Amino acid sequence: ILGSDQAWCRTADLLDLTRGRILELQRNHLDTLRLLSRSDFATNPRYQIEKDPERSGCFFSARGSVPFQAADHPVIWRRRSRRDAGFFTPVRTRVRKGIPKTEPRGQWSGRLGFILAATGSAIGLGNLWKFPYITHENDGGAFVLVYIAMVALVGVPIMMAEILMGRRTQQSPVGAFKTMAAGKPGGQAWQGVGWLGVLAGFTIMYNYSVVAGWTIHFTWLALTGQLSELATDASALGSYFGDEFLASGSQQIFYHVLFMGLTTGAVFFGVKGGIERVAKVLMPLLFVILLVMVLWSSTTAGFGEAIHFLFEPDFSTLTMGAILEALGHACFTLSLGMGAMLTYGSYIGRDISIPRAALQISFLDTLIALMACVIMFSIINTSGIEVAKSATILFTTIPTVLVKLPGAGLINALFYVLIGFAALTSTISLLEVVSSYAID
Ligand code: ALA
Repeated sequence: ILGSDQAWCRTADLLDLTRGRILELQRNHLDTLRLLSRSDFATNPRYQIEKDPERSGCFFSARGSVPFQAADHPVIWRRRSRRDAGFFTPVRTRVRKGIPKTEPRGQWSGRLGFILAATGSAIGLGNLWKFPYITHENDGGAFVLVYIAMVALVGVPIMMAEILMGRRTQQSPVGAFKTMAAGKPGGQAWQGVGWLGVLAGFTIMYNYSVVAGWTIHFTWLALTGQLSELATDASALGSYFGDEFLASGSQQIFYHVLFMGLTTGAVFFGVKGGIERVAKVLMPLLFVILLVMVLWSSTTAGFGEAIHFLFEPDFSTLTMGAILEALGHACFTLSLGMGAMLTYGSYIGRDISIPRAALQISFLDTLIALMACVIMFSIINTSGIEVAKSATILFTTIPTVLVKLPGAGLINALFYVLIGFAALTSTISLLEVVSSYAID
């Protein structure tokens, strides 16, 4: 609300009412109260405006329980009394002179921008690094089927809820939970869930970007031919990776800082100018590289066996641990519970269908994970090597297998560039959670 230092809002849910638009209220003049852009305000019987006889202001009231949030306006809000006026939460507004107008909250340029950025957040090391190795650990087929069921039955609904909370409150996780739960018994405690989201995003980002940094190093090794040399001997590559590269603190820090620099650069340029622009370039590129690699893998001898391994379920191998792992991974891979989808949802408008968006993002995420598996298991099966069940197969085993195949150098480099791109669009979304909270 602008233009008044005496306005009393007895409202709840004003943000929802104005749909993010600014309400202009002028002192003592009820008839000048209007929405800058027309809405259903005037005609909706749920809302009313009355003159305040005791003060030179007016009341504005609405049914609802979400208190006014003034994040985007240069206005100071103060709560007058928690229990005043029935279930409305009264707040007092005062315009502070001389405060520069804050920038309006960022928005995606449209549906495509949001879908690509959110898909970019979902697709990452979880799809290209973790999913293949846990599928290997859990013997394929049945595990893949359970994972797909978890994505559909648990992941999609949670994603819809997160995006919806972001869109409705137009805030990052802490503010979103605070706003949604305000006025409810024990409502304040829900903020903690928002905090967990920010904390989860932050901690995941700082582990994730270390592994993501490895992809820069391995791309460089592949392009300079060093990887082909190392990969001719599996034990040489293994000891290089474990005893030399991982043991070198300076190298770990260097690649981590480099990767975080790229991430910060994208976040710095904002929702539309940075995050969306990067996603619009990297996501199609990532898909093309993957498609090229799937087509290439379909020419290898191990392709058929890979398809059987992935899509022929054998439920006798399924364990309780595998089911739990499928559930956990479905949440991780869809970037749920880490504030990312909620934050990205706070930049969308009402023209976007949330169920449709959640289905599209989850479908693309699952497709890419399966494509990564097809490539990985085709390579492994073609080699005929018994691959150990290990989290580092991507860096220690795959190059040794690839080196025996035609076009290995280029395919190796493409593989790490691809993983790096996917990781970058994910770390961007995790940093955006923290940065959006700080801005809010
Ligand atoms: N959703 C991201 C991934 O799968 C964190 O890598």
